[in-house]
Amino acid sequence: MVVKNTHERQRLIALDHQYVAPAGRVTKFDLVVDHAKNATVWDADGNKYIDFLASASAVNVGHGNPHVVQAIQEQAAKLVHYISGYFYHEPAIRLAQQLAELAPGQTPKKVSFSTSGSEAAEGIIKFARSYTKRPIILSFQNSWHGTTLGAASLSAIDPNMHKAIGPLVPDIYHLPYPDPQKRNAGESQEAFAQRYLASLQDLFAHDIPASEVAAILIEPIQGDAGIIMPPVTYMKGLYQLCRKNGILFCTDEINQGFGRSGKYWAIDHFDLEPDLMAVGKSLASGMPLSAVIGKAEIMDTLASPANATTTAANPICCAAALATLSEIEAQHLPERSLRLGKIAQALFLQLQHEFPVIRAVRMVGLNGGIDFGPKQADLVAALSNYCFEHGLIVISTMDHILRFQPPLVITEEELHHGIQIIRSGLQKLV
Ligand SMILES: Cc1ncc(COP(=O)(O)O)c(C=O)c1O
Repeated sequence: MVVKNTHERQRLIALDHQYVAPAGRVTKFDLVVDHAKNATVWDADGNKYIDFLASASAVNVGHGNPHVVQAIQEQAAKLVHYISGYFYHEPAIRLAQQLAELAPGQTPKKVSFSTSGSEAAEGIIKFARSYTKRPIILSFQNSWHGTTLGAASLSAIDPNMHKAIGPLVPDIYHLPYPDPQKRNAGESQEAFAQRYLASLQDLFAHDIPASEVAAILIEPIQGDAGIIMPPVTYMKGLYQLCRKNGILFCTDEINQGFGRSGKYWAIDHFDLEPDLMAVGKSLASGMPLSAVIGKAEIMDTLASPANATTTAANPICCAAALATLSEIEAQHLPERSLRLGKIAQALFLQLQHEFPVIRAVRMVGLNGGIDFGPKQADLVAALSNYCFEHGLIVISTMDHILRFQPPLVITEEELHHGIQIIRSGLQKLV
């Protein structure tokens, strides 16, 4: 299929350029989304696409999931909104309980709601500083934690997220992320992990006093950096360093949570219990809802109203989240992600065999980075455009990596079909 009809698309995009500020965009190609179902998207001209992006990992349970839609409709008919900071409503209370119980580990948890992932990441700064009474937060290079001022300060993936908006939130520093591709020749995973841990200890010894560090915030699997997973030894070592120095161990599950990586939480790959974690995106199937979930003892230290906003825990969003959580469970989506991820991995490895221009295939669940290497940014842009013109939504990240994050309900047939479109693109472009 070649996308043909583009009239309505062009009209709407011209209007957008006239009225919408560019700062909120990361435009990849000119798709005007009209409606979507499961893993299929239709544009404003009626063209149909297989979705390998899931709205940036925000609809793990699939577009238009009937249970989520029904929950939204029923809740909208009952109560659209009442500020949850002042009073109480059942959907928020039930959801808080479920999230507290779903979070890894046995320590009792509490939840603080917000609307975007950025606010949840930023919330971690506030809870961690308030509990530890220390100022410094360490996050990682190539991380994406969001674009509100605090979250932008935590992020370190694109200088445009910092440019011209400073001064940023002070006392935030970025550590090198233990990306296994950065192993020296002949270096074992173990030696690599120890080298990165030693450099952090060096930092504590000569530069940043560990006793002033409130938290280390890490994506257990980096999403926007191209699905990068650190060695288990590194994560365990980092956790131990945190414990030893009274530093909170905090994770960002906004991109990788809710089954995306083949486990419920990305941190489950490392069998660790975070002190604080940030969730969003697929929590409410893309409805604006996010949360900090943390150990109750920590969550209780931030005084009211330091993390209250008018629309946090909107009842429709909470109802959407409750339905989403029950769909993840009913459809065994983490297991499905693992199973289909293995199938997709085999297909991408076959593609790599056919086209050695693919430098690496990284896959953790239905969650992949197809890495062409930094010199191939033009090819990846052309390939992504080719796919768009042939009915597949697959975008680049870091300019040279194809980001593969379909809804977890995608069918095997759609997977095969989508990857076949990528193959045809490579046949044409390489
Ligand atoms: C890991 C991670 N954290 C935080 C965010 C920010 O979430 P939001 O865009 O909802 O503010 C993102 C968004 O892409 C993300 O991938």
